[in-house]
Order: sequence, then C-alpha cells, then structure tokens
Amino acid sequence: MRASSSGLEAILLVGGQGTRLRPLTLTTPKPLLPTAGVPFLAHQLAKARSYGVRRVVFATSYRAELFTEAFGDGSGFGLEIVYMTEKQPLGTGGAIRNAAAALTCPPDAPVLVMNGDILSGHDIAAQVEAHLSRDAAVTLHLTEVEDPSRFGCVPITPDGRVTAFLEKTPNPVTNLINAGCYVFRRSVIDSAIPPGQVVSVERETFPKLIEDGALVLGYVDSSYWLDVGTPSAFVQGSADLVLGKLKSPALPGEAGEYLVLEGATVSPEAKLTGGTVVGTRAMVEAGASVQGSVVSDDAVIASGAVVVDSVVGAGARIDPGAVLRDVVVGDRARIGSGNELTSGLRVWPGVTLPECAVRFSSDI
Ligand code: GTP
Repeated sequence: MRASSSGLEAILLVGGQGTRLRPLTLTTPKPLLPTAGVPFLAHQLAKARSYGVRRVVFATSYRAELFTEAFGDGSGFGLEIVYMTEKQPLGTGGAIRNAAAALTCPPDAPVLVMNGDILSGHDIAAQVEAHLSRDAAVTLHLTEVEDPSRFGCVPITPDGRVTAFLEKTPNPVTNLINAGCYVFRRSVIDSAIPPGQVVSVERETFPKLIEDGALVLGYVDSSYWLDVGTPSAFVQGSADLVLGKLKSPALPGEAGEYLVLEGATVSPEAKLTGGTVVGTRAMVEAGASVQGSVVSDDAVIASGAVVVDSVVGAGARIDPGAVLRDVVVGDRARIGSGNELTSGLRVWPGVTLPECAVRFSSDI
C-alpha cells in the first residue's frame, strides 16, 4: 500500500535568528511575528494540517522557550507538537538531523520538512505523491521566479531530477529556485547528515546527495510563494493573507481590505487599505491613512499620519502628520510629528524621533 500525506510527520525549521528582520526579531523570533493577526507559523501549521499532517517536530534554537509558550503541545491547533532544541544552532541540515530523533515513523516513510519563514500555496499532497511514485531520496519543492539572480538556482532534467545546486550568479541557468519545503525519505536524514554538527542542507547535503547519484527530485509548483525573510516581504506576506491572495485557514476573520483585531479602535474617519492589519488595543485616529501595513498590538497611529507598506511595532506611536513608507518601527518607539521616513529605514525599539518642525522657504 502506498503511504499518502495523511498521517505524515513534519519537521519545522524555526531556530534561525532572523537577522534580516531586525529589530522585529530582537524580541520575537521570525516564525512567531504576528502576521495577519496570528503568529506566522499558525498559517503554516494550518496548511500542513489541511494536508493530513498530525505530528510536527519543531527544530528550535533561538529563543526556543517562546515557541513552547505560543504552541504548547499543539492540541489547540489539532496537532501533536514536540520540540527539539539545539544548544548551539546547527544550521538547516544539523537541525533536521537533530529533530529527526523525535520522529516516530519507519525508515522508509516520507517526512515533510519546512522552513519556518515561507508562505506557499503549493500542493503538499502532490509533492509527497511525486516523491513516493519515484522512490526519491528527497523531493524539493521548486518555484519559478522572474529574477533568479537574487537566489541560488536549481536546474533539473526533463524528468525532474535535480542536477545541481548553484550559488547566486548574475546569469542563472534556470528560473527555478529552492522553495524551502522538502520531502525526505526518513532513512536519508540519518544516513546523509552527520549528527551533532553544523550542516547546511542547501550547501552540503543536497549537493553531496546529487554527487553520490541519489535521486534528488524537483517538484515544480509555481502557485503563490513568498519567503518572508526581509521587512518588505514580511509586510507583503501579511497583506496578501489579509487580502486573500493566499488563502489561509488560520486567518482570524474574512479576507478583505483590512483586518482589525478585537480590542482595537479605528476612527470611522481613518482609512485602512491594502491588507492592513490593526492589532489588539491599537488605535488609528481620524484622518490617518494606513495602507498595506502591520500595526502591532497597542500601537497608536495619530490623526493625519500616513503609514504605507510598513511595520509599526507593539506599543509604538506615530504622531500626527508623520509619514512612513517602507519602514520598520521597533516596539515602543515614537515618531514625532513632521518626520517623513522612507526606503527601508528601521527605527530601533524604544527610540524617540523628536518632532520635526516643517520650515517653509519663506521662513529661511
Ligand atoms: P536570516 O538571519 O535573516 O537569514 O534568517 P534565518 O535565521 O531565518 O535564516 P534562513 O532564512 O536562512 O533560515 C531558513 C529557515 O531555517 C528558517 O525557518 C530558520 O528559522 C531556520 N534555521 C536557520 N538556521 C537554523 C539553525 O541553525 N537551527 C534551526 N533549528 N533552524 C534554523
């Protein structure tokens, strides 16, 4: 009998430091950042569950205790969740090997492995089916991107065999990239990854398996896909979930132009658009405009402020008339009136930018 994705065990890689998302990740690991109203991982877990996954091993390292606080034994999510924590981060490969000790499935069973920072609409059941029908060692979800020069690329033969893992280059040979979701034959994890060592699956394990002639299969599915590793991608991911561009069973409410969480106060004269989310106890005052942004719990967007494609951290305050475009404001920071911040600027937690008096040329 052929196994299916029902009853599948999964390993979720959630131990990274999320350096590209600082300062948001100084206090909260990337997979726990509130995204469309719930911790990012809630969307991935709901998706995995909808494909029949019932048991998940979290491979944790950075701020591991926060994951246990957020997800406990998983029963609230219809899952059994267990935790395997690395004392020192072991890299993606070392983390998979370490977490595999907590799996209960037999050596020839498929194991789903997911990066904890990917939003994807791909068909996990079809990926598992492709893996089993070809008896592959590993089957990688590959997605097509317009500009593969920003990623390493993954060429395949016409029948789907991966031939190489190529580093970033200005002239990539294919538009296919590694989408960060794998199906491993369980025994391959134990035989191909040494225990207790720092190992990268992308740079070491996959290239070595290919070199040794193992079948590393590419499963190409180009439905919605986003790596939320950077601030602008994180904001986009949250907005896409709110807008329903990617459907998530974990979205707390109906998809639409905006999502206002319970306990938030939004003036009827404020404008919320583009998949904005307003967190619990946050406030958006009259005349403020918030587009495609994440307003975290307890934050205040004062009257006449304009916030576009930005993250406003928990308890932060944007004073009247301040303008933010493509900006990350850390928790409890304050942006004084008259400031106009743009283009990837990041304000560290607790920092206050004083009011910035607008001077007209006639004053000078
Ligand atoms: P950056 O520091 O911004 O690159 O983010 P990151 O730390 O998340 O690294 P990256 O995006 O390369 O990681 C891909 C996935 O693997 C993420 O879900 C990480 O949480 C996870 N990850 C990376 N390194 C480790 C590790 O050493 N241990 C564990 N358990 N997970 C890891």
